[in-house]
Order: sequence, then structure tokens, then C-alpha cells
Amino acid sequence: MSQTYPGASADRLRIHNLARAEARNSFAEDVRAGLLAEPKKLLPKYFYDELGSQLFEAICLLPEYYPTRAENEILTGYADEIVRAVEGPKTLLEMGSGSASKTRCIIEALLKQQDELLFVPVDISATALETSSRVLLQSYPRLRIEAYAGDYYDGLAALHERPEGTRTLALFLGSNIGNFDADEAQRFLRAMRSVLRAGDALLLGADLKKEPAVLEAAYNDALGVTAAFNLNLLVRINRELEANFDTRAFRHHVAYNAEIGCVETYIESQRAQSVRMGKPGLEIHFAEGERIHTENSYKYDLAGLSRMAEETGFVRARTWLDEREQFSSNLLMVAESDAV
Ligand code: AVI
Repeated sequence: MSQTYPGASADRLRIHNLARAEARNSFAEDVRAGLLAEPKKLLPKYFYDELGSQLFEAICLLPEYYPTRAENEILTGYADEIVRAVEGPKTLLEMGSGSASKTRCIIEALLKQQDELLFVPVDISATALETSSRVLLQSYPRLRIEAYAGDYYDGLAALHERPEGTRTLALFLGSNIGNFDADEAQRFLRAMRSVLRAGDALLLGADLKKEPAVLEAAYNDALGVTAAFNLNLLVRINRELEANFDTRAFRHHVAYNAEIGCVETYIESQRAQSVRMGKPGLEIHFAEGERIHTENSYKYDLAGLSRMAEETGFVRARTWLDEREQFSSNLLMVAESDAV
């Protein structure tokens, strides 16, 4: 279903809603399968209900959580250089755009170079897309938005042809790639590559490997906001699937696995206990100290990023770092030999 939005920004906003009716059932099914698995696990995409999304916004403001600030520093400092690295007039595509606040620097840099701009955000949340699009359209009269509300793959499959004569600059910001394991990251980059042409590029945000203490603090802050973000998964399961998790009997646990360069996040049961879930009818037992794996946040080095780019039909053409060299913004160009 696609909708145009008349009003102040008439004809400049179109949202294609790709949401699937089975989404709620798949939450119940994924939770059931994850809690019956050995070891237990829950998918990180379920963090982002209304409260979870707000807790994530709060995480981005924490002193320990440096990635957002570091990436903002790069985008504010180098946006002009980044957009100039892709030739000619451009269409801007963004995967997982959310509030699109970081995107503003890139939009402004592009509007310095060209008269008008088509922005194509893809995000799971139709509400976030509508809110952020309205705000952007108010700020930028020369902007047009064609948004897709759906998961990354549905969004990419549904993309319309971009305006003739423009190259595509795609964005995947915020270290979201770090929440994918190696196979998923490759699958995602290949899917991105399949919608790009010779001369197009993907700006990929990736957090860098560093001392374990810095990484562990970033995911286990002193205020306990990340703990609340993690445990909110149980609150969501209680509400949506009629379960009776006692959140006080579980705790947030984080460990950096330096061998694979990954911050691993868990919910740990503080005592032996059983939990009932109404939808679907199920009783789950937890031993004392038993963990539910909830998230991986992979950290990269530049050689690993080059390798991943090459394996998926890109070349890491340029990389910008923040002053403390904590975070990287990487311009992956469509590989010449692979051009379509
Ligand atoms: C969304 N993603 C990139 C965040 C990360 O750093 O892995 C999610 C997050 N989890 C805890 N803090 C932040």
C-alpha cells in the first residue's frame, strides 16, 4: 500500500507500507523458539518497541556510549568530502533511517551541490518514517521523500527506479552492521550491492576494535540504561505474550569476546525459576545463572572491512575516522570488475 501526504509538503512525500500482517505472530513464534533453544536466545530486533526505541535514544546520549558521538563528529566534519567522493547528482538511500537525525549533514551537503534531492529511507517503523519525513520536508524545501516501511530486504526488493542521471549514495549508519553475524553481514551487503550500479556507493558505519574495558562500559553503563533496554525485552514479552517474567529476578550481563571481536549481551537468571507464557501456552525453566543471549555487537578493523567489502562486490575506497579513532565511516564503491 502506498500513500501520498497532502498538506504543507504536498506531493513531496510518499510512503510505501510493506508491513506484513504476520509480524505479531512471528514475535510469538520467535520468542517460543528462542526460549526453547539450547542455549536460550532472543532476537535483538525485538528491543525496539516504543519504550525500547526511547531507551536506545537515551543510550546514544550516555557518556560511555561513544559510537553515536564519534559518528556524528565524522559526519559533521566530512559530509562535504563524503558526498564529493561520489560523482555527479545523487539520490540518497538510507537503510534503517530511524529519526534520520545524522542524515541531515549528508542531506545539507548534497543540497549544496544539486538543486533538488530525492531521499529514499527504508525503516521497519512507519511511524518513525512519517515523523522524520515531515520534519525533514519542513527543513528542506528542495527535498522529496519516497519512503519504504518494511524490513531491509522487503524494502530493497520494492525500491522503484531512481531518477535518471543520478548516482545512488546509500547509507547504513550507526554501527548497525555490527549487530549482524558474518553470514548476515554478507547477505545484507550483497542485497545492497544488487540494487546499486557502477559509480554508486554505500557509506557504512562500523565501530572499531578497542580495549575491552571501553567496550564493556559502552554496553554496561553506570546509570543502568542499557540494562533497562535489555530487560525491557522481558517486559515486552510479559505485555504482548501474557508472560510472567519477574524482571527483578534477571540481570543484564555483558562480555567482550576479544577472539571474535564481539560484545555479547545476555539476560541472566539470578535464581532457579519457572516462567509461564500465555501466548503460546508454555512454561520455561531457568537454572540459576542461566543466560538468554540477546545481542551481538561486532567490532571491526580496517583490514576486515576491506575483506568484507571485496567479498560482497565492493571496494573500500575511503575511510574517515573520528579524532580518537574509535569509529569508522567507510565509503564502499561498487567494484569496477563487478559493475553492471
Ligand atoms: C543499534 N546497535 C548498533 C547498537 C549497538 O551498539 O550494537 C544497539 C545497542 N545495544 C546496546 N547498546 C546499543
